[in-house]
Amino acid sequence: MQRIWPSPAPLDDPGLDDPGLDDAALAAHYAYPDSPAAPYVRVNFVSSVDGAVSVDGRSGGLGSEADRRVFGLLRELAEVVLVGAGTVRAEGYRGARRDTRGRDTPPPIAVVTGSADLDPASPLLTDTRVPPIVLTLGSAPVQRRARLTDAGADVAVLDRLTPDALLGELARRGLHRVLCEGGPTLLGSLQAADAVDELCLTVSPLLAGGRAGRIANGPAGSPPRPMTLVGAIVDSDALLLRYRRSGGVP
Ligand SMILES: NC(=O)c1ccc[n+]([C@@H]2O[C@H](COP(=O)([O-])OP(=O)(O)OC[C@H]3O[C@@H](n4cnc5c(N)ncnc54)[C@H](OP(=O)(O)O)[C@@H]3O)[C@@H](O)[C@H]2O)c1
Repeated sequence: MQRIWPSPAPLDDPGLDDPGLDDAALAAHYAYPDSPAAPYVRVNFVSSVDGAVSVDGRSGGLGSEADRRVFGLLRELAEVVLVGAGTVRAEGYRGARRDTRGRDTPPPIAVVTGSADLDPASPLLTDTRVPPIVLTLGSAPVQRRARLTDAGADVAVLDRLTPDALLGELARRGLHRVLCEGGPTLLGSLQAADAVDELCLTVSPLLAGGRAGRIANGPAGSPPRPMTLVGAIVDSDALLLRYRRSGGVP
């Protein structure tokens, strides 16, 4: 795994092979801003070279060892993992394993769902060290909400599931270092609301073809948001890119 941007310092001995990024260097490469006062939203996705967000309906076919290493590290650096219910249902989500750095618990998985249609017997609830947070609406069936609460979820009923409401609820809980793992619908609404501070994107060396969508699926007409490349790593033909919103964090 070699960093190509920012340009690495020249090796002391150009005759030696670059040893690549060790864990400390990788963590420094992906550091969050110090103590953000408001939620800082980092989004992490993997895509094929031709822009597919999934192979056979899941992201696993796009991954690589390097992508999985960064996926795990980004969870370790985060205070909460924010994810849409479609991704939880498609990918069979379970709780994060490793503790957030500086804490003795893993980040909770916070699921956005208007329907509360999540299986109380799924690994999200049965295979986790911390209760998942379910961010839902009063219009979701009461019985579904009750079943999730009974299964151990921390169910938060919000007036709306807009990015400001979602991030406001996380901030109320002191969760500021947000890692959004998708999916495309959730990224589309975050993008439309200009709520994405950073996008970490692995470009996987595959031409996936087929009918898979791309990483964002939001409302038509939302203005494009300029991003600045702040990091690039290459590993076995994959690119691991890090873009931050241009003009600094508001
Ligand atoms: N390549 C990658 O890195 C990656 C990452 C993540 C997902 N994926 C793929 O993406 C696909 C899933 O796509 P998706 O668009 O369905 O994923 P999604 O955004 O995770 O889920 C959409 C669902 O989440 C809820 N939701 C999300 N945003 C919401 C909002 N702002 N307001 C209200 N509800 C909201 C709704 O749930 P309810 O229906 O319960 O109301 C909605 O139906 C899967 O194939 C998955 O494998 C790929």
